[in-house]
Parts: sequence; C-alpha cells; structure tokens
Amino acid sequence: MTRRGKFVVNKMGNATIHFNRSTAQSLPTPQQHCQNISSPHQPTVCRRVASPPTLTLTQKLEFVLTLINRLLIGFITIYLCWMSLRLDRKDIPWHAVLCTLGFLCLMSEGLMAYYRGNVWTQVCQRQEKARLHWVLQLCGSIIGLIGIVIKMCLEEVHFHTRHGILGLATMIILLISLLSGLGSLYATELKSRLQPRVNKALHNIIGLMTFTLAMLSMYYSFETKLFNDYSLDAAAYMDFRHLLEITTVIIFVLSTYGPLWCLFHSRL
Ligand code: HEM
Repeated sequence: MTRRGKFVVNKMGNATIHFNRSTAQSLPTPQQHCQNISSPHQPTVCRRVASPPTLTLTQKLEFVLTLINRLLIGFITIYLCWMSLRLDRKDIPWHAVLCTLGFLCLMSEGLMAYYRGNVWTQVCQRQEKARLHWVLQLCGSIIGLIGIVIKMCLEEVHFHTRHGILGLATMIILLISLLSGLGSLYATELKSRLQPRVNKALHNIIGLMTFTLAMLSMYYSFETKLFNDYSLDAAAYMDFRHLLEITTVIIFVLSTYGPLWCLFHSRL
C-alpha cells in the first residue's frame, strides 16, 4: 500500500482508492481505525472512521461570544456609515466613517485573528493567523490615521475635547504599536537582543493599550456635536446614544478577551 497525497492507494488485489482526510502524521494506526471489511483472504482495507469534533462548553461559548461581537461591530459600523454617507457629498464626515472602519471594524477583527473562539481562523496555521493579524492591523491603522488627518486639516482648534485628546493619544501609541508589531514579526531574527517571549508580550501590551485608547475615543465620539447633529434624534433622546456607548464597551471587552488571555498565560 502506498500513500499519494491524501489518497490511500491499495495495490494488492483489486485496486481501490480511499479518500483519507487525515495528513501523513495523523494516519490512523491499524489498531485504532482499521476494519477488515472483506474475507480473511482478501487484502485488508484501511478506512478512517470520521469522528465529529467534540467541543467543550467553553469553546461553544467562545464561538457564540465572537459571533455576538461581530454582530455588535457590524451594528455600530453600519449605523455610523449610514448616518454619514446619507448626507450631501460635501457634508460627509469622512473622519467618522474612516475612523469607525479602521479602528472599530478592522482593528477588532485583527485582534481576534489568533483567538481560538474565532471560527474563520480555526482552519488557519499559526503563520497564516499572524499574516491575517498584521494585514488587518496595518489596513485598519492606515484607514484610521487618514480619518484623523482629515479631521486635523478641517479643525481650526485642535485636541480641545476629551474625544480629541484620546484620539491624539491613540495616534501616538498606534505608531509605537506598529513598530513593536514589526519587531514581533522579526522576533526570531532579534532574539540575540530581545527574548522572543518578551518581545511578543511587549507588542501584546502596546497593542492592547492602542485599542483601549481607540475605543475610549470612540466612546466619547457619541458626545460630539457632529453625532448630535446627524444621528437619529440624538439631540432629543439619550437612549440611542447610551445604547451605542454600551455596545462599544461590550465590543471592547469581547475583542480584548483573547489577547488578555494570551498575555496572562504566556510565561515570561
Ligand atoms: C476610534 C475612532 C476615532 C478616533 C481615534 C478619533 C480621533 C479624533 C481626533 C484625534 C480628533 C482631534 C482632531 C483635531 O482636533 O484636530 C477628533 C476630532 C473629532 N472627531 Fe473623532 N475619532 C474617532 C471617531 C469619531 C467618530 C465615530 C465621530 C463621529 C461620530 C468623531 C467625531 C469627531 C469630531 C466631531 C471631532 C472634532 C471635535 C472634537 O475634537 O471633539 N470621531 N477625532
């Protein structure tokens, strides 16, 4: 019997080909998964008995929480984009659109790339998760930074509100975070100068700080004049504003759970 790719070819007797979903390392041992499905004189045919993956209660809960997180991110992103893009072209607040897309949508998705509760990255290897993480973070950062720069060009007085100051802090630490990300990507090459574990833990901490500041700035964006002017009845009723604020807090908690778990379980 020879193995070609993922197919097990039986050359003895009548040639039969069985599709085997396992890789070379995980080929079942005869004792485990072999069944003699013919008479004793005929060749033994190995067939892998496909067992459904068993998920623990915690894993199921993590999948559900990630799904809820994505729904909440979608809710805020779609609402703020709709609120902004329905205006006349010259009035569109691109700052709100780009910062929401970059910091809320792409950055939180990038944070969840390594998370074991993330259904989309379940099939990915560690390297693929790393690539997805940095691509999402880089795109989110660029889009968010363009949004901030647009606002800075439009405003006459700068960084005079809670939202603006937190946004400025986000921008500064984001640049440090991108550098630390580059260091983390080349952790092996830099191991003579900095232990890879320390390097990655540092990147984790700086990345979490960036996301925390971005979400705080997002939280306070719902008290800006722009939001009050263009959002549904925001000036008259506080309910919807509170709903968006609470949603932002939940998104923050659900997105940072994975990286925090990694941080506390990595032995420095
Ligand atoms: C995480 C996302 C966000 C970040 C990091 C951010 C960042 C900033 C920064 C740095 C400024 C100061 C610009 C300056 O003074 O020159 C600013 C101003 C402003 N942003 Fe945002 N922003 C975000 C999301 C939003 C959203 C979603 C809205 C609208 C709903 C918004 C509305 C405003 C307004 C109206 C100003 C000018 C008044 C003020 O400084 O409060 N921002 N933002």
